[in-house]
Amino acid sequence: MRLLIIAGGFAALLVAGAVFALNLPLPPPQAIATYQGDEKRGAYLARLSGCVACHSKKAGEPWAGGNGLKSKFGTFYAPNITSDPKHGIGAWTFADFVRAVRQGVSPSGQPYYPAFPYEFYASLTDRDLADLWAAMRAIPPSAEPSRAHDVGVPFSIRDGLRVWRPFFERANLTASFEEKGSNWNVGQYLVMGPAHCAACHMPRNIAGGLKEGDGLTGDPQMLDGGKSPSLTAEALRARGWTKENLIAALRTGVLPNGDAFGGSMAEVVQESTAFLLTSHLEDIAAYLLDLDE
Ligand code: HEC
Ligand code: HEC
Repeated sequence: MRLLIIAGGFAALLVAGAVFALNLPLPPPQAIATYQGDEKRGAYLARLSGCVACHSKKAGEPWAGGNGLKSKFGTFYAPNITSDPKHGIGAWTFADFVRAVRQGVSPSGQPYYPAFPYEFYASLTDRDLADLWAAMRAIPPSAEPSRAHDVGVPFSIRDGLRVWRPFFERANLTASFEEKGSNWNVGQYLVMGPAHCAACHMPRNIAGGLKEGDGLTGDPQMLDGGKSPSLTAEALRARGWTKENLIAALRTGVLPNGDAFGGSMAEVVQESTAFLLTSHLEDIAAYLLDLDE
């Protein structure tokens, strides 16, 4: 009898917990200004933001998803985001797209996993999103079905993210500092925002949340099992980085000593920073090395 009462109490707690979680609100849709999207600029933003890298499988059709992102919570598969109405996002509205990318909420009102780095896209402007959307609409449809994530209970319960969010979701870290000059500020916007360098170079707590207070001090235990070095100005200078060699390395993937970037950084360069405008690489270097310009 006592066991039954305990079991009953436990079940009631679980149900109460689930009801509580289901009622936790997600951010409401934001008002969006209308812009005529620029497809070319959008394609550039997609490179800068790493969308192409994550949403394309090595030998697969670009944007058709299937790329596996290993983490200690399981493997997440980036979905097909081509213009296919059934398997991609062809049936979405622009507002659906904005809410997904900037707020991490699906058209059906479900939270997305932070494996999709929407937290870093919160700083994309309405204009950026209009351009990205124009680029996305131009992607030919692919009928490749998206692959289900391979994550175990409790992480497979999407509604659990409603509890995770208020505690661990990061704040927008791109507030500008006037005294720092425009290169530095654009650099900060790129590194802490869409280029999401901080996603890998900022340490995380056991729940996978970013330890914002630590800054870009590197992550000795990245979610994918790798390690990333510190990118603070002090650490970079101590390791011999200058504006010139940093720009060259992000452009070519070759380090000053002739080695190549290893781990996931190799892909970041190949799929993203190699394509950036020199002015944007200069901004990134100005911010990371804390240069006065
Ligand atoms: C680090 C890998 C990664 C990057 C970079 C990334 N995504 Fe994703 N994206 C994902 C994953 C994983 C999901 C699935 C999330 C989930 O199921 O909760 C996703 C989901 C989405 C969805 C929702 C699709 C659907 O069917 O519901 C859209 C839209 C999307 N991403 C667009 C983008 C855009 C645009 C960019 C660049 C600005 C981008 N993604 C960058 C990994 C990534
Ligand atoms: C997907 C995770 C990931 C992202 C995103 C990422 N990095 Fe890295 N980065 C790494 C890893 C892992 C290493 C270590 C590479 C190695 O072992 O060779 C690294 C190394 C570096 C180094 C070399 C530091 C040194 O002294 O050896 C620099 C510089 C760097 N990253 C800059 C950046 C910048 C700038 C961005 C954003 C544009 C960025 N990273 C985005 C994972 C990442």
